[in-house]
Amino acid sequence: MKSRTWLVIPAVAALLSAACQSAQTQPVQRPQVVAVPQEEVPQPTVSGYPAQGDTTPPMQAPAPEPGTGSKRLSYNSCNVEGPYVALTFDDGPHATLTPKLLDILKEKGVKATFFVLGQCVNANPEVLQRAAAEGHEIGNHSWDHKSFSKGGGAGVAAQVNQANAAIEAAIGKKPTIVRPPYGATNATITKRLNEEFGMKVIMWDVDPLDWKVRNAAHVKEEIVKRAKPGSIILSHDIHPTTVAAMAETIDALKEKGFQFVTVSELLAMDRPLTAAATPTSPPAVAPAPVTR
Ligand code: NI
Repeated sequence: MKSRTWLVIPAVAALLSAACQSAQTQPVQRPQVVAVPQEEVPQPTVSGYPAQGDTTPPMQAPAPEPGTGSKRLSYNSCNVEGPYVALTFDDGPHATLTPKLLDILKEKGVKATFFVLGQCVNANPEVLQRAAAEGHEIGNHSWDHKSFSKGGGAGVAAQVNQANAAIEAAIGKKPTIVRPPYGATNATITKRLNEEFGMKVIMWDVDPLDWKVRNAAHVKEEIVKRAKPGSIILSHDIHPTTVAAMAETIDALKEKGFQFVTVSELLAMDRPLTAAATPTSPPAVAPAPVTR
């Protein structure tokens, strides 16, 4: 696997400008394709993305583990006392869209969490530095969005370590949380991410499908409709429609009384579910679509 890893790097580098929209490499005359949505465009396997025709669904996101409190290894949501939710944004940092989102978050006084790709961090380190400086949390979302469930043990380690190294080089701090690409994990991988890498696995319970439905009003409606105290809200800061939705989404959530915290802040508030507090309906589990 080691030799393959080295072969991958030049191919990934060739994709950087398209996948991550580096302002440094394409300052002017940038094509209007603002981002390559990794979730939807099949890429050659050498890039780390799914191969053409690879429609194997990712593994089902693990269900929350009620009652285990701080010992939980993965989270779809948290059991909190109070109207707290965590906004999370995946697949960046993007050269132009992430700064727009940061402007909105700053104006609204909202702290969020960014699950970033190592290759995009390398392309846009200044964007990540700004996000960290403005109080947002940074989490690991792999190096190049290759599924953890397909890379084997060495593949997972390479994905996690390369992304952590890029993040640490940019902001001087290693993340403590990780979101597997496509939400694809299993008990073995999740345990390993916790024990070997010291990282909690962060899934979600609110998914507006913003990568699929590129409509700002839809993104807002879905998030506002589904958010509940303790929710971890998934979206992507590489889509203009998602960024366009955020100001009104935040306003609407505030009107419903929600307050915004980072993922780690939400985790710190997580309480074991008592028998009386255990919901009668099954906990929300992130769906496992074919692409994400
Ligand atoms: Ni992703």
